[in-house]
Amino acid sequence: MILVTGGAGFIGANFALDWLRERDEAVLNLDKLTYAGNLENLATLKSDARHTFVRGDIGDGALIAALLAQHRPRAVVNFAAESHVDRSILGPGEFVQTNIVGTFALLEGVRAYFAGLSDAERAAFRFLHVSTDEVYGSLDADDPPFAEANQYQPNSPYSASKAASDHLVRAYHHTYGIPVLTTNCSNNYGPYQFPEKLIPLIIHNALAGKPLPIYGDGSNVRDWLYVGDHCAAIRRVLEGGRPGETYNVGGWNEMRNLDVVHTVCDLLDELSPRPAGSYREQIAFVTDRPGHDRRYAIDASKIERELGWRPAETFASGIAKTVRWYLDNADWVAHVTSGAYRQWTDANYGARA
Ligand code: NAD
Ligand code: DAU
Repeated sequence: MILVTGGAGFIGANFALDWLRERDEAVLNLDKLTYAGNLENLATLKSDARHTFVRGDIGDGALIAALLAQHRPRAVVNFAAESHVDRSILGPGEFVQTNIVGTFALLEGVRAYFAGLSDAERAAFRFLHVSTDEVYGSLDADDPPFAEANQYQPNSPYSASKAASDHLVRAYHHTYGIPVLTTNCSNNYGPYQFPEKLIPLIIHNALAGKPLPIYGDGSNVRDWLYVGDHCAAIRRVLEGGRPGETYNVGGWNEMRNLDVVHTVCDLLDELSPRPAGSYREQIAFVTDRPGHDRRYAIDASKIERELGWRPAETFASGIAKTVRWYLDNADWVAHVTSGAYRQWTDANYGARA
């Protein structure tokens, strides 16, 4: 079996669902259920005996030790993190706590567990750390995309905390011989993404008749990857990745934010037309994100060359699936946008001109 942390969040839940469709190997799913964790994402696994959910914190060393001793996983896949850049700007403390201190506690648990494994079990064991392209900093328009050897230059509390966790993971390989793998991925989109991130926020606000907030002039560039492709990449790295190596994962799909928002509006115009005119009319340019990284782009040639992974979805196919999913799952959106969601949008958008 494998231990997945953060498996009730956006990518972790997609990963658990895909894993149990693609592989016949059990998943122990450890998640703290913060605002971003949602058991509704895992509802279809309710009667699947291969899936065990435990509510808990990766920073809880005693819990980690007990789970590892009891379930004896052959791999750990670490998704658990605070993941939203804007939240890290308004309150960095939780990011340091979970992303750095929490990853450290998890690694310490794994170090003790690994020491007690047989030689054969050690050779097969993997710790896969799911990280981000944001650790590399920001690119100018003409810079080549991020390669694995790029210097780390994180610019936000979020990316700095992820960079710190990547360094700890690397150190546990070099110092203690833990067979670690790190993936640095670009912007994901798809089902179950919390509507604080650009694409689901735009879909939600558009349908609610609210402004579609674009930070700055909308010309910041991100590289978008459908979440199912990210999950497939992680499975490939877990299977065939070389311990100690990092693999960049991306969609070969750079887009300006404004173009992403236009695409979403055009799909909504087609699938759920607004009598008053195009959803594009709701676009509102607002005060920029402090320290907003200009451009991210990923060179994903290493994972293709060594492991034969390439994204299966184009942006056109992935975004159409995604918009349809949000239209078909209005209840899911209604549940996650009730309660504390309102406080978040007031805090993040209320003060922007
Ligand atoms: P998310 O915020 O949707 O989910 C994070 C999950 O982690 C939630 O279920 C939350 O409850 C859980 N969690 C938070 N703190 C925890 C703790 N201390 N112990 C246990 N569980 C905890 O995030 P996501 O978008 O699914 O991202 C997952 C991982 O992938 C993160 O590590 C993130 O840095 C990385 N990543 C995300 C993207 C992206 O575009 N979303 C891209 C590249 C990498
Ligand atoms: O690059 C990978 C990263 O992508 C992940 O590591 C992060 O966990 C994930 O949140 C994402 O970070 P971004 O900051 O790029 O994603 P976000 O969806 O918040 O924003 C995407 C772009 O859209 C960014 O340039 C900021 C802009 N934006 C975002 C929001 C929420 C807006 O213009 N308006 C908004 O309201």
